[in-house]
Amino acid sequence: MTIHAYRAELLSVGQDPRDAPDAVRHEADGLLVVEGGAVIARGAYADLAERYADVPVETLPGLVVPGFVDAHVHYPQTDRIASHGEQLLDWLDRHIFPAEKAFVDRAHADAVAAFFLDELLRNGTTSALVYPTVHEQSVDALFEAALERRMRIVSGKVLMDLGPEGLRDTVASGRAETEALIRRWRGRGRLGYAVTPRFALASTDAQLADAGALVAEHPDVLIHTHLAENVHECAAVEARFTEAADYLDVYDRFCLVTARSVFAHGIHLSDRACARLHESGAGIAVCPSSNLFLGSGFFNFGQADRHKLRLGLGTDVGAGTSFSMLYTAGLAYQAALAREERLDPFRALWLATAGSAALLHIGDKVGALEVGQEADFAVLDCAATPLLARRTREADLAERLFALQILGDDRAVARTYVLGECVWQRTQP
Ligand code: GUN
Ligand code: ZN
Repeated sequence: MTIHAYRAELLSVGQDPRDAPDAVRHEADGLLVVEGGAVIARGAYADLAERYADVPVETLPGLVVPGFVDAHVHYPQTDRIASHGEQLLDWLDRHIFPAEKAFVDRAHADAVAAFFLDELLRNGTTSALVYPTVHEQSVDALFEAALERRMRIVSGKVLMDLGPEGLRDTVASGRAETEALIRRWRGRGRLGYAVTPRFALASTDAQLADAGALVAEHPDVLIHTHLAENVHECAAVEARFTEAADYLDVYDRFCLVTARSVFAHGIHLSDRACARLHESGAGIAVCPSSNLFLGSGFFNFGQADRHKLRLGLGTDVGAGTSFSMLYTAGLAYQAALAREERLDPFRALWLATAGSAALLHIGDKVGALEVGQEADFAVLDCAATPLLARRTREADLAERLFALQILGDDRAVARTYVLGECVWQRTQP
């Protein structure tokens, strides 16, 4: 197998810097050596150059970070991003459900999946946990397109037997299609499956129970759903599930709270729910742009950290307003500050890469550009715009990273590499 080497400034944050003071790994002049799509060596150029003297070296134009990992995003909502006027439940009815009905058409699903994945790559995102729609073929469209692009994508047919006409399954069809998809896609490329009940309000008790049973029968899958996002949603859950201690307990009663559960949002959580999340090992995909856009609230980092919750970062497009994980990290900082918490830029980078990867149980494979991991990375350009260039002129690493998060977006991604190969290259700064 051929070996390639990349010389560049390298930065990764493999662990939560709150837990590990030496989590930040930075080589100002580094060498990343890749063979067969995997990192086989990484270090200072001066230390490695001699050992790899025979290997062709390409110098990369910017700051190399691990490919971003979007821990929660909806591909069928791509064309409904920036839909005006409503909070969650009305926004779903008015804008989202009509758009998702169109995914009954496989050709439409193929076209949107292709655009969506290319948009992820343009933004430096190489792995994601993705909602499709209720339609089995919406998963096939996404997985086929991801397989072609060699991306690491986890997804699974949405279960919603209480959905509107045209966007509703049954307990039996939900199970049969989920099982068929798991059989069809298991072990292919870099794909993974997630049992995906839309949220507690969209499924009957019987379907929630069956989702729990499906997970028990397939221990390698993830569970992916929404939790405690919006006050009206929480009130409706409380009114329907009167026996449950809280929203999380609804899922718990159906065996959906496990170490492989990823809950999007978690804005309105009791300390009891946080303690239970910690005990189970389940985690939260924090989605700040969505939470601001739908008026849902600000994620409580202080409470989450007191309970040592596992966290990742998600764009939640189309409620989220950008595919950029840099921009989303910048909004996470602002959401934290709204509650008088500080999110440092290295922790924000960890959330967008290794934190999300751990949440998705792919942290051994991606997220930190360590030896043995897959060589997915983005090349960031601190001079992507005149303002970024000016602001980062004499800045140290932390200031440059923070400026990229506050001022940067897709424009700051000069190149994206998947398994060591360039799959996106910006044409001009
Ligand atoms: N809760 C249930 N469905 C959705 C969705 O599509 N987007 C968001 N943000 N929350 C949800
Ligand atoms: Zn969502």
